Amino acid sequence: MKIAIGCDHGGVPVKEAVRQELESAGLDVLDFSPPGESDYPDVAQQVAEAVAAGDATRGVLVCGTGIGMSITANKVDGVRAALCADPYSARMSREHNDANVLCMGGRTIGVGAATEILRAWLRAEPSAEERHVRRRAKVAKLEELASNERLSEGAGRGDRDPRPADSQNR
Ligand code: RB5
Repeated sequence: MKIAIGCDHGGVPVKEAVRQELESAGLDVLDFSPPGESDYPDVAQQVAEAVAAGDATRGVLVCGTGIGMSITANKVDGVRAALCADPYSARMSREHNDANVLCMGGRTIGVGAATEILRAWLRAEPSAEERHVRRRAKVAKLEELASNERLSEGAGRGDRDPRPADSQNR
């Protein structure tokens, strides 16, 4: 399994612990973390797009709080990013929500807690129970609706003449 990871300057020690844990578990790691100070949306976008494109099976993102990373990653279709601060939430994010990106806060949890959260998240699989499958399908449906709306708005914009009606075709 290949895991895409990334952090900004607020998440370096936790990201390094994540990397070590993944590598010692024998997993392939694609690390998108830039050196020095960086903007979390740039890193989140790269990791999220790697997961959405299938270049990585799952992703792990770390910024100061994990909030910016999770907000950004969830803008990418096909990504279900979960911000977790405890192993129980991490397990539930897989079993109930099929989260494919784990986000953590480098300034809110320590390296030991992050490692426990990561282990719980890696071990868990999506539940096949009907109620969870149904709920996840509802989330996927919303994503599909939003994506279709964006597509049709884009097509509409392209077709539309932006000039006021009374000045068109003069
Ligand atoms: C960077 O200072 C900080 O804003 C970032 O790491 C993250 O916490 C954003 O959500």
